[in-house]
Amino acid sequence: MKLTKLLCAAAAVGCLMTSSVALAQNQIVIKFSHVVAPETPKGKGAEKFKELAEQRTGGKVKVEVYPNSQLYKDKEELEALQLGAVQMLAPSLAKFGPLGAKEFEVFDLPYIFPSKDVLRRVTEGEVGKQLFQKLESKGIVGLAYWDNGFKIMSANKPLTKPEDMKGLKMRIQSSKVLDAQMRALGALPQVMAFSEVYQALQTGVVDGTENPPSNMYTQKMHEVQKHATLTDHGYLGYAVIVNKKFWDGLPTDVRTQLESAMKDATAYANDIAQNENDVAMAQMKASGKTQFHEQTKEERQAWVNALKPVHKDAESRVGKDLIQQIYKEAEAAGFKM
Ligand code: LMR
Repeated sequence: MKLTKLLCAAAAVGCLMTSSVALAQNQIVIKFSHVVAPETPKGKGAEKFKELAEQRTGGKVKVEVYPNSQLYKDKEELEALQLGAVQMLAPSLAKFGPLGAKEFEVFDLPYIFPSKDVLRRVTEGEVGKQLFQKLESKGIVGLAYWDNGFKIMSANKPLTKPEDMKGLKMRIQSSKVLDAQMRALGALPQVMAFSEVYQALQTGVVDGTENPPSNMYTQKMHEVQKHATLTDHGYLGYAVIVNKKFWDGLPTDVRTQLESAMKDATAYANDIAQNENDVAMAQMKASGKTQFHEQTKEERQAWVNALKPVHKDAESRVGKDLIQQIYKEAEAAGFKM
């Protein structure tokens, strides 16, 4: 009797081992590379997707998240995705120009989104869909839009008036609209990979930058920037994208499970983003290293006046119709553009 039991148990273990080996062999691996810290809206969104994707596919899919430019920096990660060296990314919408999808830079226009509600109408409506369609010919599928938040402007001097920006070397993401924005302020824009910004600020290669508080705090930029103005002048968000060949080649049931994981990870990421930024701001204020300036109504208006002309300048780059479509969404939500 004892021997039979033992044999049965051994057979069961063997069987389990064989099935886990088989599972490991057939496991689909999604490498998800990104450039920010794990404790940011994007970092947490990526981890949530991993958790839900692995759960819902019953372990058929393994998601490996590589944060902090560990695997690739901004430009390389897009090349890696197209080559299939990684399967998933969430670059900021300001970084699609080098892919030949310059229309995404419409999101960089200063003061184009008067509220998060308008932004959501855009990303979840026709515009969001149209933009994703532009990626297909590049071998990329757009899955979702994730929030970070609105940017603040930082430097080592107070930035009260737009003129305070004159002559400052400002790090920007690789977007021509952001280039035009900085030039409209009289600043000298410098494109630089995110992973290099802290050091560039520390050594004075650039004088200042713009980012939402969560990025500023988690990269310790507040340690090397004496002043920041809460301008909220522009939006920073992400498109979660996958290699098309990989995505189309997935078994249908797995792809459906991953779509459902992405839907819920998106709701989660967009839900926590504002709070992540609020907490980061509170932590930076508490550290006392950067002095934060809140704008008066008049100060804000002066920045709006200095930056609104960028919309017209950008028409030839991102398309007049696209800008108009966003204005329409804003007007439908009750704002005057
Ligand atoms: C930046 O380069 O400043 C941001 O796009 C980084 C990020 O991914 O949030």
